[in-house]
Amino acid sequence: MQRIKVKDLLTGAEAGKEVLLKGWVRTKRGNKFVSFIAVNDGSTINNLQVVAEAEKFSEEALKDVTTGAAIAVTGELVASQGKGQAYEVQATRIEVLGKADPETYPLQKKAHSLEFLREIAHLRFRTNTFGAVFRVRNALAFAVHRFFNEKGFVYMHTPIVTASDAEGAGEMFRVTTLDPINPPLTESGAVNYAEDFFGKATNLTVSGQLEGELAAMAFSDIYTFGPTFRAENSNTTRHLAEFWMIEPEMAFYDLKMTADLAEEFIKYIIRYALEHNREDIEFLGQRLAEEDKAKPQHERQEMTLLEKLEFVVNNSFERITYTEAIDILLNSNHYKKKKFQYDVSWGVDLQSEHERYLVEKHFKKPVVVTDYPKDIKAFYMRLNDDGKTVAAMDILAPGIGEIVGGSQREERLDLLVERMKGVGIHEEELWWYLDTRRFGGCPHAGFGLGFERMVQFVTGMGNIRDVIPFPRTPQNAEF
Ligand code: 4AD
Ligand code: MG
Repeated sequence: MQRIKVKDLLTGAEAGKEVLLKGWVRTKRGNKFVSFIAVNDGSTINNLQVVAEAEKFSEEALKDVTTGAAIAVTGELVASQGKGQAYEVQATRIEVLGKADPETYPLQKKAHSLEFLREIAHLRFRTNTFGAVFRVRNALAFAVHRFFNEKGFVYMHTPIVTASDAEGAGEMFRVTTLDPINPPLTESGAVNYAEDFFGKATNLTVSGQLEGELAAMAFSDIYTFGPTFRAENSNTTRHLAEFWMIEPEMAFYDLKMTADLAEEFIKYIIRYALEHNREDIEFLGQRLAEEDKAKPQHERQEMTLLEKLEFVVNNSFERITYTEAIDILLNSNHYKKKKFQYDVSWGVDLQSEHERYLVEKHFKKPVVVTDYPKDIKAFYMRLNDDGKTVAAMDILAPGIGEIVGGSQREERLDLLVERMKGVGIHEEELWWYLDTRRFGGCPHAGFGLGFERMVQFVTGMGNIRDVIPFPRTPQNAEF
């Protein structure tokens, strides 16, 4: 007999028939006449209730049917008389495929803290919360590909090992096969990377953008979607050392077109998740509401998770310049009451407390901030006519802060070279990048969406470690 997934069984299409289901036991309860076994196979947040009558199954026969065990159940799918589910299976045969010793299986019926579950990340997929989170993550990833595919963008696989620092921030993980204890040295005593595997110093990529730009100069519209790595020592709820990023790059786009695309894109993938994973999002919303109850009134969310997501897809993002953002901050009561920890003045980088003030207190919706001072942004951003700002855009989301960073690129060779000199990047290192400005260069632009921050936004999870299966953060690379 062919196994049917719980999600499909719960539609009732097979009602009245004998079915085979396989999955993991969530709970077993009952009395001396009957046992109720809740089985989950990950296809949906909902369990399928298996009814095992004592007449057919002795206590002995069910002794290994414990929380966490893998089982196969044969029986008739029938309309349920009990509350909480429309269908259940009247078992005729139950086979234990894999036991889970109740003495040592760490997941029990009671709710576990997210911190505890992080320590057993190899098992946390089996909880309702993480089941929901990773099904939503999957839906969002699929929606990313669907969105760009519908728009005729070409998916580019940019390299993971590279010799360049795309962001110029120096936050890279070195990739080497040299012996760390006894590396070959140059005459001056430095490590001689000419003898390393690639014949030069290499690192894990911080962004696929530079290579993405090369491809956009042929395909017009491309996107990347891959892992990126940053060795920044930021132990926050928004930073990972390994995270996934989506980076579209479009020839003949200016900054406004890019902001429009980013807004459309974000709304599209949220809408997709709302349509396809509503039950998961509803569950996560309830979870959040429960969590909220424990907080003081002023820290509670004004909207439920579903309301927030629906609000975002149905309303325009606010658009302001960096200069306007600074003015708003300087004129805020928050500033006047000295409630910001970090200084506010034209030229400083916006800190997350500033970003969150703008989106959560002032505008109460996502905000696109454009035209930042050139000194706080990457070398490839296009210099504006004022000579002080660049055609950059960040999208800030409530509860998250920066979710997208993007810009129009500097397509003018002389200005780009000058900028690179200014920040100490050698022309020879990026000769291939500069070639796009030499041969058929054109105005172009792109952005990067931090995938985990997006998943956080849609699931409402407060800590980025809880939206990637196995987080890599400072001092942690378990699993
Ligand atoms: O703003 P960033 O650094 O932009 C770039 O990397 C550009 N090359 C993108 C482009 O124009 N093609 O990073 C983009 C986004 C951020 O807005 C943030 O959402 C996410 O990537 N991000 C991180 N997410 C998790 N952990 C980190 N350490 C992150 N650093 C950036
Ligand atoms: Mg950024």
